Amino acid sequence: MKDKYILGIETSCDETAVSIVKNGREVLSNVVASQIESHKRFGGVVPEIASRHHVEQITLVLEEAFNESGLDWDDIDAIAVTEGPGLVGALLIGVNAAKALAFAKGKPLVGVHHIAGHIYANRLEEEFQFPLLALIVSGGHTELVLMKEHGSYEVIGETRDDAAGEAYDKVARMLNLPYPGGPHIDRLAAEGDAVIDFPRAWLEEDSFDFSFSGLKSAVINKIHNAKQKGITFKQEDIAASFQASVIDVLATKTLKAAMQHNVKQVIVAGGVAANKGLRAELEAKFKETTIPLLIPPLRLCTDNAAMIAAAGTINYEQGKRSGMDLNANPSLLL
Ligand code: KG4
Ligand code: ZN
Repeated sequence: MKDKYILGIETSCDETAVSIVKNGREVLSNVVASQIESHKRFGGVVPEIASRHHVEQITLVLEEAFNESGLDWDDIDAIAVTEGPGLVGALLIGVNAAKALAFAKGKPLVGVHHIAGHIYANRLEEEFQFPLLALIVSGGHTELVLMKEHGSYEVIGETRDDAAGEAYDKVARMLNLPYPGGPHIDRLAAEGDAVIDFPRAWLEEDSFDFSFSGLKSAVINKIHNAKQKGITFKQEDIAASFQASVIDVLATKTLKAAMQHNVKQVIVAGGVAANKGLRAELEAKFKETTIPLLIPPLRLCTDNAAMIAAAGTINYEQGKRSGMDLNANPSLLL
């Protein structure tokens, strides 16, 4: 079979990224321009600033992705782009760039769901075994997705309020830690003890849904009440206790879902998959089973375009094509 080279473009949040992937699994280039420094002083991503940075960066990042790969446009089979979910203004820059390039270079256009991208980041490391369970934990998502074949996604659990990463970022803000707070809490947690018993939202017995807003409020209340009473908790202990609660629920529900659905593989995806505590807990839990656990290396956990090219390759192989009417969809369903 002829080799396939897919160009991926990702601009759904605060990373401008372009990548070229061969046959859905081999990364030839993976260029990511992060805007984190520009958003830090606002304590979160400012949509207007994100869009402007994407406009400034996209052609430079594209050029670099070609340079790194050693390929040129003649080699490219199709252009894959994140169509949603994400910030609408940010998504539009990538979608419009992809449409303009597809038109100018005469290449097929393939829209990709951002979460499908996070899932397929794992396939850049190891081939999928179906049925497969994916735990997606990012700044905007907390989902358990069952896949019976390539390109098919069944959401069996999701957050009813805050995403796991969102809870990390909000708690970090309370502790006066810089944005994004996840990595800082992760680091502090390793130095503290989980001495505070924060709530765990298990929800209904048979539910694989999640809820993190109660936990977030509990942490905020604890800090306020302690201040009023003149009690001080060590930041490290608050971080460790909060993290213990998040990880306990995520890992326990993932294991239960994996057993119930008899899956052949469990994969983890999204920015929070970088969390050392979560990785360790999942590894410990799945070691007791015969189910292989796959967690991507850190560089593939956070937003990048190699994952979009990888998921786009499957869409392309399955004959899915987008037209010139492709639009950014901030609340696109998986
Ligand atoms: O997937 P991602 O890069 O962007 C979204 O699509 O949301 O995820 C970003 C999220 C942020 O909330 C960030 O705080 C969190 O991932 N994150 C972490 C860690 N590294 C990044 N959360 C906990 N522990 C980490 N080590
Ligand atoms: Zn993401």
